[in-house]
Amino acid sequence: MPNAAATSLSRRALLRAGGVALAASSVGGSGLAAPAGGLVEVELVARQRLQRILPEPAGPSPVVTYADRFPGPIIRLRQGQRLRATLVNELAEHTSVHWHGIRLSNAEDGVPFLTQPPTRPGERHVYEFTPPDAGSFFFHPHCNTVELLGRGLAGALVVEEADGPRFDADLVCMVKDWSLDKAGRFAAFTSDRGASRAGTFGTVATVNGLIDPVIDVPANGDVRARLYNVDNTRVIDLRVEGAGAGGGAWIIAVDGNPLPPRPLDGWPMGPAMRLDVVFRAPGEAGKTLRLTNVYAAEPRPLAVFRATGPALPNKRFAPRALPAARIPEPDLKTAKTIPMAFSSTAVAQVYETALLTALPYADALCLAEKTFWAINQKSWPEGGHERLPPPIATLDRGRSYVFELANLTPHLHPVHIHGYTFKVLSSDQRTVVPHHADTVLLEPKERLRVAIKADNPGDWMFHCHIIEHQETGMMGYIRVA
Ligand code: C2O
Ligand code: CU
Repeated sequence: MPNAAATSLSRRALLRAGGVALAASSVGGSGLAAPAGGLVEVELVARQRLQRILPEPAGPSPVVTYADRFPGPIIRLRQGQRLRATLVNELAEHTSVHWHGIRLSNAEDGVPFLTQPPTRPGERHVYEFTPPDAGSFFFHPHCNTVELLGRGLAGALVVEEADGPRFDADLVCMVKDWSLDKAGRFAAFTSDRGASRAGTFGTVATVNGLIDPVIDVPANGDVRARLYNVDNTRVIDLRVEGAGAGGGAWIIAVDGNPLPPRPLDGWPMGPAMRLDVVFRAPGEAGKTLRLTNVYAAEPRPLAVFRATGPALPNKRFAPRALPAARIPEPDLKTAKTIPMAFSSTAVAQVYETALLTALPYADALCLAEKTFWAINQKSWPEGGHERLPPPIATLDRGRSYVFELANLTPHLHPVHIHGYTFKVLSSDQRTVVPHHADTVLLEPKERLRVAIKADNPGDWMFHCHIIEHQETGMMGYIRVA
């Protein structure tokens, strides 16, 4: 598909459509451009495919994707356009598609057993919704996620502002590690040791499924890069090194939500978190900038942005704010506070396989065999095996709530809510830059206050996005009724 696209689209159109630069065939990521009409239709065929991640002599890896290759597809909508996405399940297990970060109606949220019946092998499921907010979102399964996301089952959903600043290029950069052996086969996605601590780390760092790719950007152009952490486990802190003109790279949105531009200089991203950044490409063709992860003691190079083509005309580089999202404003004066404690379980509880298969609301595929983690002392799923566990909290529709997220562990937890966007208020450990996010990174022992206005009815998952933590207990749901 990228090759076909490359022959039929102009360079700029390709940049807009695929979001992955000139050499689409080498950088990957098929793009689906938004037509002018009101409805965009896509088909997501979940299936195992072969994709080369490691260089020869390793073989291609048996990835699982929604399109020809990871990351794919990149769905682009204009704000106000409606998406109709048909999941075609060609896997040997049931699945569903969760639309991460989108404030949609509960029935489209894609959580098997909670918001929809699982889509069985050979079945299809149609999702249809109009994303209310512009921004960089993504989608992934919500069951057996350690393995499926580990194998690459994720795509990007980009909702372009109806109006706002224009950029000379608009790229999607999906950062993900893969757990591969030397031959290119998948190694273990999880272990008790990893799951009960910081998680199991992959072995091969990539951007858009490529090791240290060269991503072409228009010389002297203003580049919007949508940086995604779609890893199961790793926390990253990105820099665009060498972006000199105009003073480096600037953050213009967090999880798709605009904020006043600020330098990209220390904004750690846990799994599922996104940053939109803008930087000026070098003026001279061939010159490069480096995308680096500086979170670890040893900075890791991830990709190179290379200036190509005749330099665009000189203009002043000044990152402009995107139009603000219209997220319902919580009323902090009347808000009710709900404590949410993120802890380990004192004793890991082992579920009997016989019991698991008897569960009407979940099955062995959606549950790990052990629990290591809990929210408010409850591990997902909690006792009472004949029904859905009760919600962690029941919220009155229309009322405002402050969640006091308390991390009682020595590990990081990216805490995610479905169907809502948090207004991030304050922390007992650091100065919080006011912003909105659907996933917030809780530091060890931190207490972080976030707020929502509970205007969206339904049962909404609330969980850690380190997938092994999520699947070993650090998950629950809130009910808004
Ligand atoms: Cu990306 Cu339930 O989350
Ligand atoms: Cu966690």
